Amino acid sequence: MHIPAITGTGVFTPPEIITNEELVEAFNAYVDLYNAENAEAIAAGEVAAKEYSSPEFIFKASGIEQRYVLEKEGILDPTRMYPRFRQRSDDEPGIMTEIAVKACKTALEQAGRSGEDIDLVICAASNMERAYPAVAIEIQKELGAGGFAFDMNVACSSATFGIQAAADMIRVGSVRRAIVVNPEITSGHLEWRDRDCHFIFGDVATATVLERADEAKGDHWIVRSTRCATQFSNNIRNNNGFLRRNRPDGVKDRRDMQFMQNGRKVFKEVVPMVSAHVQNHMADEGVMPGDLRRMWLHQANKSMNDFIGRKVLGREPEPGEQPNILQDYANTSSAGSIIAFSKNSEDMRQGDIGLICSFGAGYSVGSVIVERA
Ligand code: COA
Repeated sequence: MHIPAITGTGVFTPPEIITNEELVEAFNAYVDLYNAENAEAIAAGEVAAKEYSSPEFIFKASGIEQRYVLEKEGILDPTRMYPRFRQRSDDEPGIMTEIAVKACKTALEQAGRSGEDIDLVICAASNMERAYPAVAIEIQKELGAGGFAFDMNVACSSATFGIQAAADMIRVGSVRRAIVVNPEITSGHLEWRDRDCHFIFGDVATATVLERADEAKGDHWIVRSTRCATQFSNNIRNNNGFLRRNRPDGVKDRRDMQFMQNGRKVFKEVVPMVSAHVQNHMADEGVMPGDLRRMWLHQANKSMNDFIGRKVLGREPEPGEQPNILQDYANTSSAGSIIAFSKNSEDMRQGDIGLICSFGAGYSVGSVIVERA
């Protein structure tokens, strides 16, 4: 058996930012247009008038101040409210592949490796831009990697589930060096016209290189243990699938073809599930709360993370013990915990123990206990 290690991470951050103020201005302009268009039906009580959003609510409810997106103009156009993505020909790399490769290159550079050194690519994300060929195989080609590649989707938990799959394969020797990449184009599956959730997501790509610890070329993290769990729930759901293109009555603009959630239920049910999962995982590995130097949690909502941090540590987390990045990036689905890890781990010392944890739709939760080598 080999000991798996994380030897590099990379974050690709899109160039365009939408602040809460810009987002709300566009949303409220859309509300005005909608209410004017439906004035008669609203007056007759047949249609509910839409209400304004507010930057104050968004920050208070979520801790989010801005988000990065791949294309901002289409999202902020009140007559459109959806990013403009150019249709690519089959001969060009897909848009997920393009941003994935950027994150992979940074992660490979940190690991002191090149694409040819990789023999497993897992593209782990909450949506894939096509059914097949697997996006991961296109990324494998662009990187010049060998071996094999596949896609996996466990929504917001995709990164930790991907890390477990890669770490296990390295442990038994079926692969030597893996890259787990999370290109999250959440702007394509968010309903920007829904006041309850229009502020939640942002775009990004993250990548994590894993290999045998005894072959690591520089600073690295031993993957001490991983644990994944799932439990079915409809409280976060997206019905966009290959059998569900149109409604039988021909209506195409289906709300359920984008991200949907019952946010309050998610909050109430996921917080205890994640806290218990992490506590049990740590206890089984003999890691006491006092041994844990840092937690890099999934980045969905600040109060959710504050709750989980308090529960796991048994006290208020000190500043820096549980870094948040969602004020800048918003919820980036599976990539959130890896952004937090990548940007907040440099200062840790040999022997320091940390925990990467992601959670979300499914429900699903994955945790990775790492130790600085
Ligand atoms: N602007 C202003 N007001 C808004 C608003 C907006 N954009 N969106 C909702 N509101 C209003 C609601 O109408 C409601 O008003 P009411 O009390 O008069 O009915 C009030 O604010 C509270 O709405 P609610 O949706 O219940 O807010 P909340 O405090 O539960 O926060 C979430 C909403 C989504 C931020 C919160 O439930 C959450 O974080 N859940 C976890 C979700 C999550 O992490 N999902 C990601 C999956 S990985």
